[in-house]
Parts: sequence; C-alpha cells; structure tokens
Amino acid sequence: MCGIVGYTGKRAAMPVLISGLKKLEYRGYDSAGVALASNEEIFIRKQSGKVSGLSELIEQDEQLSRLNQAKSGIAHTRWATHGPPTTDNAHPHQGPKRKIALVHNGIIENHNALRDRLKAEGNSFSSQTDSEVLAHLIEHHYNGEDLLGAVTAALKEVEGTFGITCMAVDRPGVLIVARRGSPIVIGLGKDETIIASDASAIITHTRQAIYLDDDDIARIEGSQVDIRSLGAGTVTRTPAEIDWSPDAAEKGGYEHYMLKEVFEQPEAIRNTIRGRIDTTRGTAILSGLNLSPRELVDIRRLLVVGCGTSMNAGLIGEYAVEDFAGIPAEVEQAAEFRYRNPIVGSRDMVLAISQSGETADTLAAVREAVDKGSLVAALVNVVGSTIARETGRGIYLHAGPEISVASTKAFTSQVSVLLMVALKLARAHRLSRENGIQIARAIEAIPSLVEAVLANNDEIAKVAAEYAHYDNAFYIGRGYMYPVALEGALKLKEISYIHAEGYHSAELKHGPIALLEESMPVIALLNNGPGQDKSLGNVAECKARSAPVLGVITKGNEEARKACDHVIEIPECPHYTAVIPAAVALQLFAYHVARIRGCAIDQPRNLAKSVTVE
Ligand code: F6R
Repeated sequence: MCGIVGYTGKRAAMPVLISGLKKLEYRGYDSAGVALASNEEIFIRKQSGKVSGLSELIEQDEQLSRLNQAKSGIAHTRWATHGPPTTDNAHPHQGPKRKIALVHNGIIENHNALRDRLKAEGNSFSSQTDSEVLAHLIEHHYNGEDLLGAVTAALKEVEGTFGITCMAVDRPGVLIVARRGSPIVIGLGKDETIIASDASAIITHTRQAIYLDDDDIARIEGSQVDIRSLGAGTVTRTPAEIDWSPDAAEKGGYEHYMLKEVFEQPEAIRNTIRGRIDTTRGTAILSGLNLSPRELVDIRRLLVVGCGTSMNAGLIGEYAVEDFAGIPAEVEQAAEFRYRNPIVGSRDMVLAISQSGETADTLAAVREAVDKGSLVAALVNVVGSTIARETGRGIYLHAGPEISVASTKAFTSQVSVLLMVALKLARAHRLSRENGIQIARAIEAIPSLVEAVLANNDEIAKVAAEYAHYDNAFYIGRGYMYPVALEGALKLKEISYIHAEGYHSAELKHGPIALLEESMPVIALLNNGPGQDKSLGNVAECKARSAPVLGVITKGNEEARKACDHVIEIPECPHYTAVIPAAVALQLFAYHVARIRGCAIDQPRNLAKSVTVE
C-alpha cells in the first residue's frame, strides 16, 4: 500500500527513482511524486495519476538538466487514505520552510492533534494528509544539522504506523529511513543504496538487502548505512539475499501481469511443493513449521486467519484439515480476530495466510494470537516480510513475485500448501499411510491439472465473450467448491467491476434466488464429487428462472454439460485438488471478461496490492 523509493549514491537518482516507482505502482496508483536534492535545493515534482504521467511531466521540465544532476532523491506512489488523490495530497511532502522532504506510508493516527498544535505555532498546510503533518513536525525539530535527531524526535511524538524516507535541503546525499508497521527494505549496492517499500524496486540493482524491523531508524549516505533503534542505540541487522530474479518481476511478453501470473501457476505450484511431498511415507515435509511429532499430535484445533483471497484459500484449508485429519478447523477474517477476543489456547495452531506478509489486519491478528500464547505459524510469499519475521515459523510459498493486484498464483500456491498442512496433520493423527500416499500423489499432480486448464485458454476466452455484457453474476459451489465460488466472484468483481456474489449452491434458494432472471447469469461449480446431484438440482432451479448458467464441469460429464448453457471443462481429479483447476478456470474467465470490458486489469480502481492499514 503506497510505494516508496529512495536513492543515494554516485549515479543520477532520477532514473532509479522512476523505474523503482514503476515496479511499485501496483501498491497504489492514485498519484506519484519525486524529490531530488541538487545544489542546495530540493526539487519536487508530483501530480495525481500514474507514474507514466509523472515521468512525462519530468521529461518536459524546463529544469530537466538540473534534475538529472541530482545524486539522491526520494519518490512515492500513493494509495489514498487521508484526502483525495489530488496533486496537493501527493507525496513528497515538505515542511513550511521547504527544508525537508518526506515520503510516508502508513497512518499517523494523532495527526489532527499534531496539526492543531502546529497551526497554533503558525504553520499552514497545503494538503489534507497526515503525512504533511509529519513533514512539518520533522522540520519543527530540525536545526539544520542533525536530520537523524529531528526525525527521531518527531517519530517519538506520533501514534500510528509509518515507513518513511526523509531528506534535507542542506544535507544532500543523506537519507533517513524508519519503519513501524510499514515495510522498508534497504538495498545495498556498490557505492550506492536503494531504499524501497519492497524488494521488487531493488532487485535490478542489487540482491543484498536489509529488512528494517519496527522502530528501526537508519541514516544512509552513499553506501554507508547506520541503523539504530528509535528507543535506544545502534542495532545490527544482517543483510539477506533477495532470491527473485529481475525477470520474475517483468511482464515477459504477456499483455498483463495478471495473465502472466495465471500462466506461471504450474511452475509456481511446482516450486511450492518441491521437496515437500513424501510419496513413500504418504506425508508432507514442512520443516519451516518447526513442529516435533509430539507437538503435531498435540494440536487440538487449527485457526486460520487472513483477508480476501488469502482468506478464501484458508476456507479450502478448513475443509481439507477436517476432512483428512479430523481436527476442528476454523477460518476467521483477520480483522475480526483481534477485536472479537477469540478463544485460543496453547494447543491451538493459528495459521496466518498472507501473500505480501504485510497486511495490517493479518499482522494484528498474528500479534493477538502471539499474546494469547498460541502456536502461530505463517504461510507467506514475500520472504522477509513482517508476518514471516514476527511468527518465526511457517512455510514460504516460493510462488515468485506477484505484481498483479488481483491475486492468482499466490492463491493456488496457498491452497497447495494448505493441502500439505492437512496431510501432515492427518498423518500425525489418524490417516493411514496408504491414504496418505494417495493424497500426496494427488498433490503432486496439481501442476499438470493447471496446465490442462491453461491449454483451454482460447475456449475460456470465447465463453467469457458470452458473459462480458452482464452487470451482475452469482457464483455457486458446495463443499470444497464453495470457497472457490467466493474466490471466483471476488476475482470477477475486482478486475471487471461487475457486481458478483459467491454463494453456497444450496443457499441460493434461501433468498438470492429472488434476483434470478435472464439478465442474471449463474456460474456453477459442478465438478464430479460429493453432492453433485444436489448441485445439478440447484442449476435446474436457476434455469427454471431463466438465468443463463455457465458450468465448470469435469471433462466428459455429459449430464453436467446438458444442464448448462455453456461449460468450461476441468480435468478429472480428486474433489480436494479440483479446487485448483476450477479456480484457474475462473481466473481466466474473469481476466477475459475484464479485458473485453476494457478495464485496467493490473491496477483496478481503488485497490492496492498490499493493504497496510487496518
Ligand atoms: C484479491 C486480493 C486481496 C488480497 C488481500 C490479502 O485478489 O489480492 O483480497 O488477498 O488483500 O492480501 P495478502 O495475501 O497480501 O495478505
């Protein structure tokens, strides 16, 4: 949520900042801006809209040659929280005397009180943002020499969350960065340092990075990085190697990141399950969970927390854990978990699911679970992210960077891991070796199931063309396919802006059926599996109300085909792995509908990739 880039070194800062912003634009794209330090002046260029607009603005700038001379600078792409996405509200923000410039992610919760105090001292503000208040506060503490001290003093007065990069007019080359709740990564180059809110803006320059912890503050000048704690003195943070290749974060010939990531799924899932399946002993090897056989047996309940697509993956995990292992499992919306005072004990395992590892609601749930003394593990994609570090135990997805705002490969990798977690728990509890081997083999076959769906892309595009003109849609499924219906509806609504609802197939007749008519299509998940006859009955109820029905069916099931107006086929497979090819089919369906409707697929309106506010 919002992207930050900073540069200090020997090169021209501008190209590094602009290319970094482009990499981070998926985190927010309401407005963008840069601040460059050159010849005792700070040049700010910012405007509402996307980074490409900012880049064009700079190209036409009369002072372009001076801007290009700057060897340090900061930049930001915004997802609006306080104040609309106008140029005034765009970052960087400055203090009243234009001595410092600041980019900020997060929320300053006591900004109103601080603003009133600063106004009483004579300050006037040009934006409605909480970030400008922080800029004024830093400048208030700045004596023209000690920028680190000024930022430290200001941050001690604020309540809320921040990831910041700050520079001063009379200290060109010096950047101060700090974090509490919003990630900051420091990329260590030769004679230079690149700062960003995530590693994708850094990997083209260096693979060596330091991930700041909460309440870390650092002074950076060229390649000199001095990290301290806001509370005490110097702290040591060990650099980590970023293991993504630069190519992994590029579009690679695809029209959109989303399509690229959909097509990456066979490989992403292979990476997720590699080395983690034991088909001889019929179990999963999940050493990151760091659980002894005794601890595994002792687990009494699994509680999954997450948001959005990650929560939908968790719902599939709930089915699998209860089904395979006979252990009660529950999924809780992460934002609810913290405020509902949940009942969790030391024998409950809380599993936090998050692609980014930075989602504020999920992080808050993790902290609550830790405080309640339960066993907390994380299922995260971004290595070194806050949730991964705070839980200390868990399973990385290894799905590679997910840039598209709509999550696709992270979802199918999450589900693959959850099936492995269920298998591991099951073998420690009641599942026989023989049945374990069957499940292990079924998990190993998932990538080829996905390949079969991807091979059908053209067919799915044709079906999507039949449905792209509708303004509403229902998705229905039962059992394992119920969460897939929720996920299918979420994918369609977020990228095509079609109003879509996911329902349990049986629930439709308890109210929503009142909406069925010929302009209300139903997308029905009808693969072979328990309850299929009942689902076909539900489809007949929809058809009787003239609703067009698109079925996602198992290849060769003629009865299901005849029940529907259109079908998308998925390969024959166990019902617990069928969720993945079905979800992939619905991702492609949503993609093609959105494409036909001319939507901004990779950057849907109002969304951001990583939601670091509660
Ligand atoms: C939807 C989507 C979101 C995220 C949610 C949680 O396509 O991407 O619903 O799943 O914001 O994000 P993470 O998984 O990063 O915690």
